[in-house]
Amino acid sequence: MYMDKDKDEAKRQKTMTKPLIRALKRESVDTGSRPFWFMRQAGRYMADYRKVRADAGTFLDLVYDSEKAAEVTLQPVRAFQPSAAILFADILIVPHALGQDVSFVKGEGPKLAPVRDRKALAALAMDGFDRIAGPVCETVRKVAARLPEDTALIGFAGAPWTVASYMIEGGGSKTFAQAKTAVFADSEFYGALEEMLVEATVHYLSAQVEAGAGAVQLFDTWASMLDEKSFHTHVIEPARAITEKLKDRHPDIPVIGFPKGAGPLYEDYARETGVDCVGLDSLVPLDWAVEKLSPHAVLQGNLDPVRLLGPEEDMLNVADMILRKTAGIPHIFNLGHGILPETDLGRVRVLADHIRGWRP
Ligand code: CP3
Repeated sequence: MYMDKDKDEAKRQKTMTKPLIRALKRESVDTGSRPFWFMRQAGRYMADYRKVRADAGTFLDLVYDSEKAAEVTLQPVRAFQPSAAILFADILIVPHALGQDVSFVKGEGPKLAPVRDRKALAALAMDGFDRIAGPVCETVRKVAARLPEDTALIGFAGAPWTVASYMIEGGGSKTFAQAKTAVFADSEFYGALEEMLVEATVHYLSAQVEAGAGAVQLFDTWASMLDEKSFHTHVIEPARAITEKLKDRHPDIPVIGFPKGAGPLYEDYARETGVDCVGLDSLVPLDWAVEKLSPHAVLQGNLDPVRLLGPEEDMLNVADMILRKTAGIPHIFNLGHGILPETDLGRVRVLADHIRGWRP
């Protein structure tokens, strides 16, 4: 018992030395440099990633090979020293671990065997979850053991609406007509699917925390596809439930919510979900976010990833504007969405060095 307590205290102390975790807990604002990491910082824009990826077989083979997945998680840490690593995995691990057929077709993105009714849903279950998702937790353990002291490890999962949209559509979609129809009909089917996803996501994120993740991010990439009413019931409410249940098990774990494209509904999201931090897409006006969202949550974001493709000076000017507007409030520098595959690693380094050297 006492040993466990000492161990918890040791773990807490270690965690508190990490600037990203301190920012998420609002414990450091204007001393030292701004914590930063970039969404999709591990990926195809890195030659080192492409090499490991080419040897791995399919994308899922790479995710489930904990040694290779740990290696690609660490590549950006070595390349430009962000304040955090993000676990190398995917939001579609949850449906896969629930028993849905998931594959990644080169050049076409993810393909899933669509789940559109109670019968298809009944074939999914938590039974095999740990066996399938186990290697992902092994990746977390390996990365946590290998990271520099001051670098945090962020675990993640997709939020129920975004994950459900892939499960129902059977892949990406332009209109999300099938998934939205299920939501709008307020069907028994969608409710049951959402309930299963909330439970699986809490289980999965808890396992990542127990394996060594110091914070978690919930990606709701397609939050902007719903209307106001459905946003409240199927974006905010499940994010609130997941955050509450996760914090019941792990009271200290900071949660970042990313309801991409939420617009003015970011305010309700920040106020009502209980997340510690909101990830901002590039369109969110920062002055507004500082005024309306910052009282409720730490801010993260929101440089447009396409700025990394244009003139370096423009990129740095926009980065400076973001740093200035968020000076003096808790803020983690990030992009408004993931790094694009055509991005030059040299450019990412320039941005990283600039943020690290910036002072108010
Ligand atoms: O560095 C990181 O951000 C960590 C790993 C990560 C991946 N996917 C790896 C990945 C994370 C956090 C994700 C999240 C994810 N996956 C989201 C939410 C965030 C976002 O980008 O909006 C979504 C919607 C997915 C689903 C997904 N995975 C799609 C649509 C695709 C195909 C499109 C593409 O970019 O290829 C993937 C595949 C995927 N996930 C890749 C990577 C590095 C590329 C696969 C490859 O290397 O061949």
